[in-house]
Amino acid sequence: MGVRMLACVILGFLAVAINCDEAPNITADATTITTTRKPIPYQDSNICKLCKCEDTKVNCYDQSITTFFTLNEWEDIIDLKPSTVDLSENRFTNITVIADLTIEVLNLSRCSIEFIQSGSFRDLQEMRVLDLSHNKLTTDKLSPHAFEGRFAPEEYEPLASMRILNLAYNDLHSLNQDLFEHMPELEELDLSGNPLTTIDHVTLVAISSLPMLKVLRLRSCELDEIPSKFLHTPRFLENLDLSDNKLTIVPRELEEAKDLIYLNLNQNPIEVIDFYSEDNPGFPRLHKLQELHMCNMPKLRSIGPKALAGLESVEKLHISFNPSLSYLDPKALARPDDIGESFDWPLVKELYLKSNNLTEVDTRLLSRWDLLEKVDVSDNPFLCDCSTQWMVDVLAPIVESKGSNATLMVCQEPIEMRGHTMKDLHDSHRTMRCVDKYGHRPEKDGAILLGTLIGVLLAVPIMLSLMLLWRRGYFAWLGLRPPADVSRAFYKRAPADDILY
Ligand SMILES: *[C@@H]1O[C@H](CO)[C@@H](O)[C@H](O)[C@H]1NC(C)=O
Ligand SMILES: *[C@@H]1O[C@H](CO)[C@@H](O)[C@H](O)[C@H]1NC(C)=O
Ligand SMILES: *[C@@H]1O[C@H](CO)[C@@H](O)[C@H](O)[C@H]1NC(C)=O
Ligand SMILES: *[C@@H]1O[C@H](CO)[C@@H](O)[C@H](O)[C@H]1NC(C)=O
Ligand SMILES: *[C@@H]1O[C@H](CO)[C@@H](O)[C@H](O)[C@H]1NC(C)=O
Repeated sequence: MGVRMLACVILGFLAVAINCDEAPNITADATTITTTRKPIPYQDSNICKLCKCEDTKVNCYDQSITTFFTLNEWEDIIDLKPSTVDLSENRFTNITVIADLTIEVLNLSRCSIEFIQSGSFRDLQEMRVLDLSHNKLTTDKLSPHAFEGRFAPEEYEPLASMRILNLAYNDLHSLNQDLFEHMPELEELDLSGNPLTTIDHVTLVAISSLPMLKVLRLRSCELDEIPSKFLHTPRFLENLDLSDNKLTIVPRELEEAKDLIYLNLNQNPIEVIDFYSEDNPGFPRLHKLQELHMCNMPKLRSIGPKALAGLESVEKLHISFNPSLSYLDPKALARPDDIGESFDWPLVKELYLKSNNLTEVDTRLLSRWDLLEKVDVSDNPFLCDCSTQWMVDVLAPIVESKGSNATLMVCQEPIEMRGHTMKDLHDSHRTMRCVDKYGHRPEKDGAILLGTLIGVLLAVPIMLSLMLLWRRGYFAWLGLRPPADVSRAFYKRAPADDILY
């Protein structure tokens, strides 16, 4: 009996022990029942079956995905702790709510997105970068609620980590004035390629709600002006791209952008930049600006004195591929000191004046050509005479020593210099002739001399004959009377009836 009892107890224990072994599976099943879903390893998730999940990166680039992932699908990759999710180049039109994930960079570029459900990114509290470029977002459908974050006591449901938002190449002609209310810390905004045409009041209010903005891209927005107050609030703005718009003057509003370091005005129909003109003003004082781009401006003809003098720190000057640019004033960059007697120049490190219509580069344009680190002035119709001798003697060797090609600095005028390169002229120590102030070309002097000689040779006999005829009174009908003695002699030979005497 005692032995049996003992055996039973031991068996009982074993049974319990066996049950205990099964316990984890039972509890696992129990959890599944309570949450109605069974956590699966992220490797088995739909997202990671469709996309490449590696480290903390999810790469779904160009997978022909036609519906956005559901909240449950997103929840299945929580264990991956994704930091970068690339969903670009797919075909879903609607964005819906994403799970509480550690995503920092979310790329939704090129997906035909038309609609973003309210609060889709609410739980992406670590998201810094959101790329929504090249989609089909319109002014009507893109609501501020799309960017709603979580409740916060001091701010308005912020997406607190958001720094970079790309809305380029959508169909926005205006922005909701509250569009950025959930991203108070935004530093970079790209609105390029949207048909804004004019910056209306609501768009201006939207931009003005971004005090921390450092980078603003407005390339290809069909803008014909920058309204005043536009750059007043983002006072830390460092980088502004206004290329490929319809600006006809250097925007005055730029003077508000005191911190600007980089400015791109490429491909705008500006014709003249003239410090002294009301209609085509020069640059305002932008004392921190380091890099200026004014290229591919087919209408730009002239840059006058002091036009760029406000750019006292400019280091990189890109003024290339402006086929009509024939005049760049020698004092374009020079700014008079307080007394107005001497000038200061910025210490330019990179100068690009390639493929313009300039006949010369004036030595007074910069103060220290030797401090240039990169320079390209090639492909201009240079006039090669004594006025550009310095280009041959000084500039060509500088161009060569900075790794550019002085072979591409080619003479266009005068005709006998056409095709010569400044490098060859330098190497052969050529001293160039002066063209006279009327622009006469020395190569025509020979012809002019010959013409003059022939003229003189013909003129002498003609003049003599005319003199003779005149003295004989042949021009009397013109009122040109011959000398008195001649007429007397003439009439003496007439019949002597003395009427005249
Ligand atoms: C418990 O789960 C493990 C792995 O999840 C499995 O190998 C085992 O067969 C399960 N046991 C029972 C009793 O279902
Ligand atoms: C996208 O969202 C809009 C607005 O909620 C809805 O009308 C439309 O049917 C949705 N489209 C798809 C493909 O889910
Ligand atoms: C998003 O993807 C597009 C196209 O694949 C790419 O050009 C772009 O640089 C990506 N954006 C970010 C922020 O990585
Ligand atoms: C280039 O300049 C010359 C005069 O220096 C002018 O005759 C010509 O029309 C200009 N070319 C263009 C495209 O403006
Ligand atoms: C300079 O340009 C000329 C003409 O295009 C070319 O023949 C030569 O190889 C170039 N030299 C260098 C150093 O690039």
